[in-house]
Amino acid sequence: MAEPNDSSAALTPDEQRRLDEGLALVLPHYPEDRKSAAMLPALRLLQSIKGWLPPQGLELVAQRLAVSKERAHEVATFYAMFHTKKPGKYVLDVCTNLSCSLRGAEELLAYLEQKLGLKAGQSSELFTLRETECLASCGTAPCLQVNEDHHESLNRKKLDELLSKLT
Ligand code: FES
Repeated sequence: MAEPNDSSAALTPDEQRRLDEGLALVLPHYPEDRKSAAMLPALRLLQSIKGWLPPQGLELVAQRLAVSKERAHEVATFYAMFHTKKPGKYVLDVCTNLSCSLRGAEELLAYLEQKLGLKAGQSSELFTLRETECLASCGTAPCLQVNEDHHESLNRKKLDELLSKLT
């Protein structure tokens, strides 16, 4: 969705201040010469402020941790929970690992794709739809995560109810 030059990708002065204030609480827990070890909490902090990890934010984090911006980008793109592209308001992660797959996850994913008009991996203003690995709710498969909330033992009816609450 958002390109690097998109104005929504820029951190406002207030967002930069909040990032620095948050880092001032995090960094004292790490040795002065090992600030790079704070990369995960720093990226979580940035995402909690901005909603995603825009290039300018990654550059700021890299500066504050004294690493290259490429290093910050490497870490940000390794973990599925970080968004390096602006996501929709709701990120729908559909687990298609074994337990969920055996209980109809692919069929539910196809149903969501059709209802939202999105393919897995695509975003609209409101939704980002993704196929994901195990969400650790195998006993209540199939499972879907909406932002940070789990929804379990899903079927079409439950999906319809959930989507009607989100739209
Ligand atoms: S396989 Fe889907 S939650 Fe574990």
